Amino acid sequence: MVVGVNHGGEVVRAQDAAHAEGHDYVKGSPHLRHRKLREDIERRLTALVRDSIARTGACRVLEIGAGHGTFTDVLVAAGARVTVTEASEASAEHLRATYAGDDRVSVFHDETGEFVLDQEETWDLAVMISVIHHIPDYVAFLDRLQGLIAPGGAMFSVQDPLFYPRRSRAAHVASRGSYFAWRLGQGNYARGVATRIRRLRGVYDERAESDLVEYHVVRQGVDEEAIRTLLMEQFDVEVFTYWSTQGPVWQRLLEKTSLRSDFGIQATNHRP
Ligand SMILES: C[S@@+](CC[C@H](N)C(=O)[O-])C[C@H]1O[C@@H](n2cnc3c(N)ncnc32)[C@H](O)[C@@H]1O
Repeated sequence: MVVGVNHGGEVVRAQDAAHAEGHDYVKGSPHLRHRKLREDIERRLTALVRDSIARTGACRVLEIGAGHGTFTDVLVAAGARVTVTEASEASAEHLRATYAGDDRVSVFHDETGEFVLDQEETWDLAVMISVIHHIPDYVAFLDRLQGLIAPGGAMFSVQDPLFYPRRSRAAHVASRGSYFAWRLGQGNYARGVATRIRRLRGVYDERAESDLVEYHVVRQGVDEEAIRTLLMEQFDVEVFTYWSTQGPVWQRLLEKTSLRSDFGIQATNHRP
C-alpha cells in the first residue's frame, strides 16, 4: 500500500539514514563523477535559469533533494534565487553551513519529503537531480509539483534509470553488468550478497535500507513515458536519454554507442 507518495514516511526515513553525516554523494553518482554527464546538466540548468531571467527578470528555483549542493552552485551562478529541500537532516545541515549568510539560497529540511508540495509559493523552475527514483509514487509527486510552477515556468529532472521493461535488452544487460563490475570493487560484500539473493528471488524488503533508498533502481526503473504523458498537458516536454554508469572505463567505452540507460525530462512553457 502506498501512503502519500513515500510509503507513510518509511522511504524518507531511509533517505535520511542513508545520506547521514559524512555521506559521499560523488562515489556512486555517475552524473557527479563523469565530466561529460555533469557538464550536460550544468549547461541545461544554466540555459533554463537564463531563459527565465530573460522572460521575467528573475528565476525563483525550487531544488528538491539538493544533496551537498553541487548543482545549487550552478543555479546561483546563473542568477537564480534557490530554495533547496533535503529529506536528509545531515545534508540540510551541510547546505545551511555552505550557504550561511548567502541570501540567494534558503535551505529547508523536508522531513516528510512532500511538505514542500503543500506550500502556497510558486516557482519559475523546479529541479530534481537524481531524485525521482527515490520517490515511490513519483507520478503523483510530479502532478502536485506542477501545480506550484508559475505560468511560463519549467520543470527539470535528470539521472533516473529508464523504465526497465522498455529498455533494449542490450542496454539493460550492459547497465546491470557494468554496475556489478563496479560494485565488486566497492567492498561491503555481505550486504551486497544478501541484497542480490533477495533480488534473484524477486523479493523487496520494505524495511531494508537498500530496497527503500534506491527505490526504483532496484525495482523497474522510472517510467519516462508516464511522466511525459502527465506533463505534456501543461508543458512543452523533451525527454532525453543517455548512457550512464558508475565505472569510468565503462562510461567512456559505452557513452558514444547507441546504448541508453538513463533519462532526463525538461518541461518548459507552463500553461496551467
Ligand atoms: C542521489 S542524491 C542526489 C543529490 C543531488 N541532487 C546531486 O545530484 O548531487 C538524492 C537526494 O535526494 C534526497 N531526497 C530523496 N527524496 C526526497 C524528497 N522527497 N524530498 C527532498 N529530498 C529528497 C535524498 O536525501 C538525497 O540527498
